[in-house]
Amino acid sequence: MTLKKFIKWTVIVLAGLLVLVGLTGLILYPLGIKKLTMIYPNIMVETVTIPKDKYAVSRGKHIATIWACTRCHEKDLSGKAITNDPLSGNVPLFGTIPASNLTSGNGGIAASYNDTDWVRAIRYGVMPDGHGEVFMFDYSTLSDQDLGDLIAYVKLVPPVDTNYLKMQFGPIIPIVSNIGLLAPAAERIDHQSPRTADPKPDASVEYGKYLSTICTACHGNSIGNAVKKWRKDEFIQIFKTGVLSNGKPFGPTMSSDTFRELTNLELNALWLYFTSDKP
Ligand code: HEC
Ligand code: HEC
Repeated sequence: MTLKKFIKWTVIVLAGLLVLVGLTGLILYPLGIKKLTMIYPNIMVETVTIPKDKYAVSRGKHIATIWACTRCHEKDLSGKAITNDPLSGNVPLFGTIPASNLTSGNGGIAASYNDTDWVRAIRYGVMPDGHGEVFMFDYSTLSDQDLGDLIAYVKLVPPVDTNYLKMQFGPIIPIVSNIGLLAPAAERIDHQSPRTADPKPDASVEYGKYLSTICTACHGNSIGNAVKKWRKDEFIQIFKTGVLSNGKPFGPTMSSDTFRELTNLELNALWLYFTSDKP
């Protein structure tokens, strides 16, 4: 083949591929938008007792930290812009993704939420208007007690006014949600699954298994092998200090408040679970 011919065919093949990618996008995009804006009507929401006492509220604050709510919704729960307006040119491919303001300030949701709305939104990933949440973690395993205490806390956080842009999906999100790279939270959660009894909060494999959902949200099921390398006291020390046994930092994510606030009992349970033959 002459060089000229080679270049000609390369251009034809590349152009063909581009058209193919474009066409695939044109088909996948509307399918993705449909998935992301789906309505989930008639979710059966069971009553969860929302306590009012100080102890429950301070436990709720702890839950909001260790279950990572504050990573996306910020410490004061006023939310944040995870990505910004496509028109401002920041992240045109992702669009605008705000993590909602959970307070009762302007732009926040708390003033319009009743207790059922809170349970539906956190446990089932569905907002009061029936739209599914997309980017939330799956919190369907949270026990009644933990969810109750969490809601007790969230309802009492001071109001903060915010003015986030509305959620708007750029081209990437609908497309990847079609090819298995991003399943909306509401779709990941089994809305029919029967509830199990609350776990007993003690240093046990069972309680560790319950808490391990915090870890699997980011790590999938693989993190047990990394934990098995450490003795229990090492594991606890590393989480408490954010420093590995060799003096190196545990890493920016793992040394954050989220994990430093895990109690000794919780870390004990997690270690027991990850080093058991169950994970
Ligand atoms: C990975 C980031 C992330 C984490 C972690 C997270 N959220 Fe969210 N949350 C979001 C985003 C983004 C939305 C907007 C809806 C969506 O996901 O598309 C949202 C929506 C919500 C809503 C519905 C708000 C509305 O607009 O009606 C509630 C309530 C909520 N989150 C509470 C929580 C609580 C409580 C926790 C911890 C147990 C938590 N979230 C953890 C990102 C997160
Ligand atoms: C928000 C996402 C997120 C969550 C939740 C999370 N991790 Fe991590 N983890 C990371 C990231 C990112 C790293 C890489 C180091 C860093 O940035 O801190 C990491 C690193 C690690 C490592 C070292 C990796 C290795 O292969 O040696 C271990 C062990 C670990 N995590 C355990 C846990 C455990 C146990 C939990 C639950 C209590 C947990 N992680 C929850 C994101 C997360």
